[in-house]
Amino acid sequence: MQKLAIGMFDSGVGGMTVLREVRELLPHEHIIYFGDTARVPYGNKSPRMVTKYALESALFLLTKGIKLLIIACNTSSAFALRILQRRMPVPVIGVISPGAKEAVRNTTSGRVGVIGTRTTIRSMAYDRSIRKLDPGIEVFSQACPLFVPIVEEGLEHDEIASLMARKYLDSLKRSGIDVLVMGCTHYPVLEDVIRKTMGKDVKIVHSGKETAKEARMILEEKGLFNRRGRGKCEYFVTDAPESFHEIGGRILGEPLTHVRTLKSLDYRELLFSS
Ligand code: DGL
Repeated sequence: MQKLAIGMFDSGVGGMTVLREVRELLPHEHIIYFGDTARVPYGNKSPRMVTKYALESALFLLTKGIKLLIIACNTSSAFALRILQRRMPVPVIGVISPGAKEAVRNTTSGRVGVIGTRTTIRSMAYDRSIRKLDPGIEVFSQACPLFVPIVEEGLEHDEIASLMARKYLDSLKRSGIDVLVMGCTHYPVLEDVIRKTMGKDVKIVHSGKETAKEARMILEEKGLFNRRGRGKCEYFVTDAPESFHEIGGRILGEPLTHVRTLKSLDYRELLFSS
């Protein structure tokens, strides 16, 4: 079991910000990353579609033989975590609860901000998760839909990034929050701009980083932690492998090897293909 890989899925390439943290904390683990590049973005899709895609992605990863499943996508975590935890034969973690826990640990004002895709923000998943831990905390949320294309276009250092950050974050800044959760895979690429816009008194929480810590804890608890060898990464996408390669390599900070494009997401077909 220890030798099995960790499976991770995301709507596309953004999950590389989570992978980066997992690799840093768990360098000996093999990782199979699935990016649903044919159907990205999830952030403006309905809960029903997001859940269906999550089930398909998880089943695909199961066919590969994994010991832990990480839902790297915030939008998918918002809707599909519980159903996957009930149905999968392996432990499943999402990015929302680890991010929420870190926010609660760090706020002193009791005012926490959350930014994410439209669908994540509408789901109120972060609000619920935070308030379950501390019902007294007030949550202020803001969808930042243009942050995703800004990152994918490599414009994180361009003035458009600062302009949009000011536009999206201005009301959060005025609400008196002392913690801001980056509740979307892409936002850590914009962390400098977000930090600069919010000012030094606001702690920025990276949900992916907290998720990596949780993954390590679970593997240790269950005796599944791999302590030796260098972990390898394999990537599967549903379309456009070239741009996955290009953007993914940029976010991860190293070239991606072993990117394969799937012809089908039907797990029955996958089970019988080589
Ligand atoms: N991966 C998504 C998330 O973290 C962002 C990109 C998308 O909208 O699919 O919510």
